[in-house]
Amino acid sequence: MSGSSASRRRGAAGREDAALRLDDQICAYCGRELEAEYFEFPPALQRKYGKTGEWYYHPCTSECEQKKERREWELMRRDARVASLKEKSGLTKRLKKYTLDNFNPHVSTNAGRARVKIDEYLAGWDDNREEGRGLYLCGDVGTGKTHLAVAVMTELIRRRRVPSLFVTVPEFLDNLRGAYNDPGRDIDEWMDAVKNADLLVLDDLGAEKPNAWVRERLFVVVNHRYREALPTIFTSNIGPKDLTEQLGDRTASRIIAMSEWVGLEGDDYRETAAREGR
Ligand SMILES: Nc1ncnc2c1ncn2[C@@H]1O[C@H](COP(=O)(O)OP(=O)(O)O)[C@@H](O)[C@H]1O
Ligand SMILES: [Mg+2]
Ligand SMILES: [Zn+2]
Repeated sequence: MSGSSASRRRGAAGREDAALRLDDQICAYCGRELEAEYFEFPPALQRKYGKTGEWYYHPCTSECEQKKERREWELMRRDARVASLKEKSGLTKRLKKYTLDNFNPHVSTNAGRARVKIDEYLAGWDDNREEGRGLYLCGDVGTGKTHLAVAVMTELIRRRRVPSLFVTVPEFLDNLRGAYNDPGRDIDEWMDAVKNADLLVLDDLGAEKPNAWVRERLFVVVNHRYREALPTIFTSNIGPKDLTEQLGDRTASRIIAMSEWVGLEGDDYRETAAREGR
């Protein structure tokens, strides 16, 4: 504390009780205790805030101040980066609400197992990314496949700032088809984003009855991501056998090779929740 000026500002009454300083402020960069000064409020503010004044901490050396500013700037840039990644993620407002925290692992044995696998997947992200390993969330409608896929993606954006993209397969195919009628639309750019996203969620694979064209489009994406070792999270209501039947062996075998299987077969959460009045 810089004694003279502090006591000067403490005013004539000099009520030490109000000026009691509970915590010392330490410079986070050099560990030095920061100089503190007590500023007494004018009477009107004293009444408004219900206290006589406030401690003011002097900044540390200009070197530390610069470090602090740089750090704050980095944090701001990081937040901006996360926000911008979320913006480009393809997540709708509804999907953005799906988090790990609000996924209930107790609704079924498989939900609990899935949650454990998801945690392991996130913990092993560096290796998974390196090896292009993704997830295949498999189960009936309403078992939480989309919820978990989105939660993983959101966690990786937040924790690791992974450029991620969420695409539903039917929407993906519609977009490709639409492009044939609308030459102004940059289909190559869209396809490029899907093919090259650091993390891609392909939601509802196999929801659509595939014709040769659909199979080919999906093969192009899957094959590219397989070769480039880019992790993909698939959600689907079809198992490995039907996958081969629906998408063909070339695509199915690559999907199986590049993803860890997470079975979510169990009760429909929406029905269970309605039944139990959740
Ligand atoms: N275990 C769970 N905990 C909390 N909410 C869940 C769970 N499973 C599903 N839900 C919710 O139920 C709804 C349907 O889940 P969703 O992930 O869309 O199912 P799926 O993609 O398997 O059809 C969503 O609103 C989702 O948030
Ligand atoms: Mg779904
Ligand atoms: Zn310092």
